[in-house]
Amino acid sequence: MSDQSLALKPVESLTLEEAQAELGRLAAEIAVHDKAYHGADAPLITDAEYDALRARNLAIEERFPELVRADSPSRRVGATPSEAFAEIRHARPMLSLDNLFSDEDVVDFADSVRRFLGLGADALPVFTAEPKIDGLSLSIRYEGGRLAVAATRGDGLTGENVTANVRTIADIPDTLPAGVPDVVEIRGEVYMGRKDFLALNERMRAEGGKVFANPRNAAAGSLRQLDPTITAKRPLRFFAYAWGDMPRLETTQYDTVRRFADWGFPVNDLMVRCPSVEAMIAHYHRIEADRATLDYDIDGVVYKVDDLTLQDRLGFRSRSPRWATAHKFPAERAFTVLKDIEIQVGRTGALTPVAKLEPVTVGGVVVSNATLHNEDYIKGIGQSGLPIREGRDIRVGDTVIVQRAGDVIPQIVDVVTDKRGPDSVPYVFPTLCPACGSHAVREERGDGRLDAVRRCTGGLVCPAQQVEKLKHFASRNAFDIEGLGDKQIEFFHALEEPELRIRTPADIFTLEAREAKSFKRLRDFPGFGATSVKNLFAAIEARRAIALNRLIFGLGIRHVGETNAKILARAYGTWDHFQEAMIAAADKPGEAWAELNAVDGIGTVVAEAVVDFFAEPHNRDAVAALLAEVRPEAMEALVAVASPVAGKTVVFTGSLEKMTRDEAKATAERLGAKVAGSVSKKTDLVVAGPGAGSKLAKATELGIEVIDEDAWLERIQGL
Ligand code: IVH
Repeated sequence: MSDQSLALKPVESLTLEEAQAELGRLAAEIAVHDKAYHGADAPLITDAEYDALRARNLAIEERFPELVRADSPSRRVGATPSEAFAEIRHARPMLSLDNLFSDEDVVDFADSVRRFLGLGADALPVFTAEPKIDGLSLSIRYEGGRLAVAATRGDGLTGENVTANVRTIADIPDTLPAGVPDVVEIRGEVYMGRKDFLALNERMRAEGGKVFANPRNAAAGSLRQLDPTITAKRPLRFFAYAWGDMPRLETTQYDTVRRFADWGFPVNDLMVRCPSVEAMIAHYHRIEADRATLDYDIDGVVYKVDDLTLQDRLGFRSRSPRWATAHKFPAERAFTVLKDIEIQVGRTGALTPVAKLEPVTVGGVVVSNATLHNEDYIKGIGQSGLPIREGRDIRVGDTVIVQRAGDVIPQIVDVVTDKRGPDSVPYVFPTLCPACGSHAVREERGDGRLDAVRRCTGGLVCPAQQVEKLKHFASRNAFDIEGLGDKQIEFFHALEEPELRIRTPADIFTLEAREAKSFKRLRDFPGFGATSVKNLFAAIEARRAIALNRLIFGLGIRHVGETNAKILARAYGTWDHFQEAMIAAADKPGEAWAELNAVDGIGTVVAEAVVDFFAEPHNRDAVAALLAEVRPEAMEALVAVASPVAGKTVVFTGSLEKMTRDEAKATAERLGAKVAGSVSKKTDLVVAGPGAGSKLAKATELGIEVIDEDAWLERIQGL
């Protein structure tokens, strides 16, 4: 493919016939890559090569607008609502930010930046400081100056294609001024203003619809609409504050964002440059004081190193940059009365106490439920077994303090015992599952203490666990079955008719066939019409082919979240291989058990949980029934970073002059190398600075390649 692109004729010199032929070829080729990319999660070419294909397609179309094909890739992306939620792989990962909570934390953060860069005690780089907008992040890609694709953050590597919806947001330009680079990726936050949010809720209430809890949820709900005409009616706004794939235009963060303003993007006017830590902290408190007067919700202040060269040098940890961080505002609190404690039974049988509160407004949001964590928490005992709240327990009827911080579930942080009435009695935590009556027990942990969580022992017999497991199975990040949300699962689970009932994952896939044989028709049930039944069956059918990681995640194994499911899927490749290995791993400490524990990112707790799951006969039965219905797709291992040092073991020794040890190590690791502390036969490369001693001698003795700092920098230049 790349050989071909080398031989490409400049777009200006293409004849009409040549252009037509090439557009046809490009449409087919890009379609193949889209499928490999989104469907099989196994791209055949690099992102840059893919981008080049799209850019070429766009350039030819621009010169020959009359030749734009109906199936052109430029039209296909996000053009139809059904594609609106296809997965998009971000050209560069969308990172999150670490959090700071105090002024002292800011001093430490600045110090860590200085240390990493090897700067002197009073040399501190300039930082920008700006509000942290409480919305959802979005990446908008422009190709040839035109909006091409927009995606939500998703898991940071892949997001949802929301292009059709983003085109309806007035704050976001469809085209950029002439002269912008061919590929521009603007990143920022989609949000809803407070006044707009209140008006929208008013409208929704009047129409008898659902109201949103806060502007953030309203923004997320509006952006993730399948029908773009609905999004168009929602007052969504946007602030640009970052970028992805884009050539460098300025030397600083501040000037780059200013440039976005010139291109027509809204940027936040509270962004400033701070020459010192004191200035950063002062700006934080200024923004905090003005918070209530802003028409949009913010939950903190973001600091970023201004100089882009320094940003590059600082680089990233796994999920967040070293050059930026969020300084969060303190959580908000309010007093209210605890009316009742309800016990919810979760997917894994955990009994979670939920506080039912006299509704109270906390930081602009009405709260009527809050978590009480677990039995010990109610009693006033912390995770370490020591008293919390000076040992004060929480009782029904108490006046309590509710705290809400950002998106986190509100919690009860304290209780006002002075206001307790004379009849008040301590809360008695149930020892039987409220859903199925099975015993609920606290398992013994490794250290001899009891687990904080009391669990129902009913397993799949417990209706609450069944329902929660099914909800999880059908949910967006697992099987993602459209039209089978929480409410529908509850409906199907509670049905009297065995031929229409859903009790296990396999039942979902046999539903249509069972209905066909039944006298009852789903379309005759309230809430179902002929169309919704047809759509539901189609949505179920569409999930018979399922990505391996989604299947593993969907099983709801304890400790196996999305990330671990992906790790396991990549490590084992196919379902059969995975299942065989997990069953074999029950034989400890056998080979399969060792292999599982050796998977990068999988620790003993996760390994135990997966093996336990497969050791349980009823789980194996449920899985076998499901596997008779669905076809898990194989997953290919990710291609490692293409760099001359990928997979090599590197040792740094002696003093480095152009970077600190931390920086050198981080860079090498980013490029796929392993950094070791000592030289051995396994070492591939030694980078030696002045003063290198025994390690250098050993390397020479073993015949290992030795280079100096400059040669190292040259080798990794531009990567
Ligand atoms: S910068 C690589 N700036 O906060 C850094 N993020 O907690 C990219 N956010 O996912 C983020 N306001 O959605 C940045 N002014 C701001 C922000 C901001 C809100 C969000 C963003 C990010 C999350 C991390």
